[in-house]
Amino acid sequence: MARAQLTTDFYCNSCPNVFKAVLPVVRSAIEKEARMGASLLRLFFHDCFVNGCDGSLLLDDTPTFTGEKNAVPNKNSARGFEVIDQIKAAVERECPGVVSCADVLAITSRDAVHLLGGPNWDVKLGRRDTRTASQAAANNSIPPPTSNLNQLISFFQNVGLSAKDMVALSGSHTIGQARCTSFRSRVYNETNIDASLAQTRKNNCPRTNGVGDNNLAPLDLQTPTYFDNNYYKNLLQRKGLLHSDQQLYNGGSTVSIVRTYGESQSTFANDFVNGMIKMGDIKPLTGSKGEIRKNCRSVN
Ligand code: HEM
Ligand SMILES: *[C@@H]1O[C@H](CO)[C@@H](O)[C@H](O)[C@H]1NC(C)=O
Ligand SMILES: *[C@@H]1O[C@H](CO)[C@@H](O)[C@H](O)[C@H]1NC(C)=O
Repeated sequence: MARAQLTTDFYCNSCPNVFKAVLPVVRSAIEKEARMGASLLRLFFHDCFVNGCDGSLLLDDTPTFTGEKNAVPNKNSARGFEVIDQIKAAVERECPGVVSCADVLAITSRDAVHLLGGPNWDVKLGRRDTRTASQAAANNSIPPPTSNLNQLISFFQNVGLSAKDMVALSGSHTIGQARCTSFRSRVYNETNIDASLAQTRKNNCPRTNGVGDNNLAPLDLQTPTYFDNNYYKNLLQRKGLLHSDQQLYNGGSTVSIVRTYGESQSTFANDFVNGMIKMGDIKPLTGSKGEIRKNCRSVN
């Protein structure tokens, strides 16, 4: 993997107030709708896993350009693009043409996690924006919720992340929502699920494919807008919502990591931050590669 020279002080001279421009916009978006913090965090993941953290996810489809927004993992699911537009606009007012959309995603996801009660960290910056996107790569590089443990490990290995990074980053599912279509087969057909959770989720997710597909349920049943280690506590009780979630605690090689994070908020927080920094280092465009997009939705 190309692990390039991102630095925490990249905009120190060229845009010293970039963090002050981003934070209030993230804060007001979360005040308006707490789920938005989760949605923004997920955008960074879905950007980084597809040919690196290069803003490719943010490009809109046009009659002559196919972006990633309609790829299987994103369609009817990835959200928060209007908030990214607002953040980018605030950053452009502060320092026009300086800060990439890829870096906006990195700063935004850090702020979202911290505002929801999670850890804070220094984000590495200096990514540039791609002029291309790949719907095929988006279809193939982001793990689906039907994945088993070996598949999850290999999706992460493909971008240079370890099984431990995979378990720590999955703790993101302590916030946010999933659609019925993402958990239907788990709640109707699986046996390694808490019976009362399965019943509760069935109540708002009809068995028939195509019926109620977009009905939402929280990934963490207790505190879906608070970034804590409840995700792992749920797994210990067979209360993971997605098939892929429960795979982390189903007798395989990752059970001890899940136990550790379920018992220690601080170990989880530490490994999550390390994982986010590693994920943010996936194949960035640096130097004179790519561009600094003016509008995150289209190439300059
Ligand atoms: C380990 C493999 C992963 C799988 C299989 C997976 C799958 C999913 C699925 C299916 C959803 C629900 C989408 C929907 O129904 O609309 C979801 C939501 C979410 N995912 Fe993941 N995910 C994984 C890892 C991650 C990682 C690494 C992050 C962040 C670092 C992340 C952050 C989120 C967040 C925050 C949400 C909620 C989004 C919202 O409410 O808008 N996920 N994920
Ligand atoms: C992505 O997957 C969808 C659904 O299978 C398919 O319609 C689309 O053509 C795929 N895109 C590419 C570029 O392979
Ligand atoms: C449950 O499994 C059966 C047998 O494989 C399948 O026909 C059915 O569609 C599944 N139901 C759901 C809701 O996934």
